Amino acid sequence: MSKPFKLLIEDHNKVKTLIKDMLASSSKDKAKRKEMLAQLKQELKLHEKIEEKYVYPPMEEKKATHDMTLEAYQEHHVVDVLLGELGHVDVSDEDWKAKLTVLEENLTHHIKEEETELFVKAQKNLSNDVLNQMEKDIAEAKR
Ligand SMILES: [Fe+2]
Repeated sequence: MSKPFKLLIEDHNKVKTLIKDMLASSSKDKAKRKEMLAQLKQELKLHEKIEEKYVYPPMEEKKATHDMTLEAYQEHHVVDVLLGELGHVDVSDEDWKAKLTVLEENLTHHIKEEETELFVKAQKNLSNDVLNQMEKDIAEAKR
């Protein structure tokens, strides 16, 4: 995988690990759960922003990745909705874990599509100049 996508995959792995930790946490440890949820929100929002600003637009322009990119925007939207709902449930409520599990399932699907199809097609169809610029923009935004 070329460099810009490697940076995005690092984020994916970070988020997956965080969610695993959240699901394994005790419902009695409310402070910890709140802290991890705040971190998850921050990570996801930044990651979505980076993808939607620097990664998706050039992919949307290419025929090979156009449709899948439009789907990816919608998948981000679903993640945002689920994340918003999670914020409205008490962290010690059993529904919190149920909602988080559904969020994890959606994210896993989205991440898998990006890593195994969308990014693979994108790196074949985008020029080196575009990929290099993308890498610079992502690295800058992550800072
Ligand atoms: Fe994404």
